[in-house]
Amino acid sequence: MGVQGHPVCRTPRTVGPDRSRLSRSAAATYAGRVTDPVWTTLATTDHEQVAVCHDRATGLRAVIALHSTALGPGLGGTRFHPYAGLHDALADVLRLSRAMSYKTAVAGLDHGGGKAVIIGDPATDKTADLLRAYGRFVESLAGRYVTACDVGTYVADMDVVAQTTRWATGRSTQNGGAGDSSVLTAYGVFQGMQAAAAHVWGAPSLAGRRVGIAGVGKVGRLLAGHLLADRAEVVVTDPDAAAVAALAARHPEVATSPDVTALTGLDLDVYSPCALGGALDAATVERLRARVVCGGANNQLAREGPGGTAERLRERGITYCPDYLVNAGGVIQVSEELRGFDLERARAATRAIHDHTSQVLRTADEQQVTPAAAADRIAEQRMASGRDTIWLPGNAPGEVPTRRR
Ligand SMILES: NC(=O)c1ccc[n+]([C@@H]2O[C@H](COP(=O)([O-])OP(=O)(O)OC[C@H]3O[C@@H](n4cnc5c(N)ncnc54)[C@H](O)[C@@H]3O)[C@@H](O)[C@H]2O)c1
Repeated sequence: MGVQGHPVCRTPRTVGPDRSRLSRSAAATYAGRVTDPVWTTLATTDHEQVAVCHDRATGLRAVIALHSTALGPGLGGTRFHPYAGLHDALADVLRLSRAMSYKTAVAGLDHGGGKAVIIGDPATDKTADLLRAYGRFVESLAGRYVTACDVGTYVADMDVVAQTTRWATGRSTQNGGAGDSSVLTAYGVFQGMQAAAAHVWGAPSLAGRRVGIAGVGKVGRLLAGHLLADRAEVVVTDPDAAAVAALAARHPEVATSPDVTALTGLDLDVYSPCALGGALDAATVERLRARVVCGGANNQLAREGPGGTAERLRERGITYCPDYLVNAGGVIQVSEELRGFDLERARAATRAIHDHTSQVLRTADEQQVTPAAAADRIAEQRMASGRDTIWLPGNAPGEVPTRRR
């Protein structure tokens, strides 16, 4: 899938100073400089660019990080959060932007990974002037970074950011945007769950299966609707009584469970975490009786990597659908917004999550690894195809975009 209307092209990447050409004393100075905290943090990552943004007039303090633009412009939302300082903000934006590279790569998008954080309390520090100042910094990256909503920023905020940059998505439909991304996120999770059902039970249907959903906010309640339409039995839990009541009013056939501990102890076929990160902690994994885990929440695995939660799930015979794979509907929506949003086209693109999930689960079986590791490998292979390139803006305003290595 190509991104149209972007004044972007690709040129060879230059990586840091060529130390072989530095004099002995210059090399020592360079080595000395890289010991400060920011460079030390960056030295542990493989990020392309970090922009620290400051606007004295509005009090804006933001960090924009581009992990990789190997496959296209970096895409990812803006988080507005009262970080303790630059170091905390930097650590978070590096982690989040890297995750976006994997999410866009495995979703098959021609996009890289980026993310931004604004330091401050969204309840008290967010002003229209500050958001417009932020938009100017996004614009200064000339399309290398495309922003969207994240924790602490909303559709109305992106409408304001879009006043000063062409690279803000997640705008309202009145402003040419696609609005709430949870519609396609829930649809994508449902696609992933159907693919997992086909993998485990031989048919891409949840009919007659018992699915437990933890969290019936924007994503969870829409997912419940898809599952009921597929004739699944749905049990939910949410500490927000109003969220449960709203779902029950719409779908009285939905059963409820008092909390996550009770829900995950039930005889479920599928467990679907749709609330907070870290949902798959050690106790939950040991308690689970479901054969499949597939949900919209980000960062579900309490411990990532070798020896972590995904391996324990595999040992227990539970098929885990990687969160960033199945919850990519939102980012697909955002990428579609750049082309002029069309819901049917975006829905068709989101349906691909079904095939991507099948591919990941098949690869995991073939290579005897966890689905999480298989998804990472697929994403890394795609990114490697664009290694040694970064995405650059065109040379002239309005230049027709070309891809060039
Ligand atoms: N909205 C999107 O487009 C989108 C896209 C990708 C990923 N996600 C992720 O999906 C998850 C849900 O997003 P959302 O937009 O529906 O958020 P939301 O805030 O609308 O809903 C989250 C719900 O989880 C409930 N909850 C909180 N703690 C809980 C607990 N311990 N047990 C059960 N329920 C609990 C909350 O009360 C709330 O109703 C988040 O992790 C989010 O990062 C969302």
